Amino acid sequence: MQINNNDGEALNALVNEINNIAKEMESKAADEILKWGFKKYGDRMVLASSFGAEDVVLIDMMCNINRKLTRVFTLDTGRLNQETYDLIDKIRLKYNIKVDVYFPKSSDVEEMVANKGMNLMYESVENRKQCCNIRKIEPLKRALKQFDCWITGLRREQSLTRNSISKIEIDTLNNNIIKLNPLADWTNEEIWKYIQENKIPYNELHDKGYPSIGCEPCTRAVMQGEDPRAGRWWWENDTHKECGLHWKEGK
Ligand code: ADX
Ligand code: SF4
Repeated sequence: MQINNNDGEALNALVNEINNIAKEMESKAADEILKWGFKKYGDRMVLASSFGAEDVVLIDMMCNINRKLTRVFTLDTGRLNQETYDLIDKIRLKYNIKVDVYFPKSSDVEEMVANKGMNLMYESVENRKQCCNIRKIEPLKRALKQFDCWITGLRREQSLTRNSISKIEIDTLNNNIIKLNPLADWTNEEIWKYIQENKIPYNELHDKGYPSIGCEPCTRAVMQGEDPRAGRWWWENDTHKECGLHWKEGK
């Protein structure tokens, strides 16, 4: 259910409900969380997939549980790598699922690049955030309007900003829908073990030194021992780098 921030009564009831089940959720395995989600939300639950390693694990698990109810969308910023487009098609064909692709509003992109150029993101953090807002955040909000629950591949060990996420949360940035992070406590090794054991197609960039993959102009390979997210917006110094899909400025 989408709940408006002004509806205090409904919001309080939801906070109580989620607080009560959060502890129980923490001890559940990823597939149990997904089963719980399918049962409660059916096709009103969706996976947001960038087709990174975590997301292909989740697609495999969801299809194993209930392929027909599996809903997946991706945000195509228009600046993704060819390897990512190749993988989207591989996954569609392997699992026989539809992937909904959300694009940014063309008029917003046209105005932005007319005023600031194609590579505005390198010029300032403000420009980079404007690009992420237009190419990712607005389409995310549009995509989530139709759902009561979304699933992400966020993991605690990925970064400082993610180390206290819960497996179930209320997404206050998106009309207080439910957000499930079934892989919150998985390690990178566990992700790759699952991918290998289950022979899941994955983004070829992972074999070229990219642990984390976003847009082509904003992601590069990392060196051995470097932070896994060091290749994202690599020219920025901040240790709390996020594009805003999951956190708002200052949170
Ligand atoms: S980001 O905020 O820095 O870009 P990251 O790449 O780590 O996020 O991915 C974390 C999770 O956010 C993914 O597992 C996925 O659920 C969601 N996500 C990230 N990028 C996209 C995208 N382009 N389309 C859909 N979901 C995405
Ligand atoms: Fe734009 Fe880079 Fe953000 Fe992609 S990651 S939306 S190209 S600034």
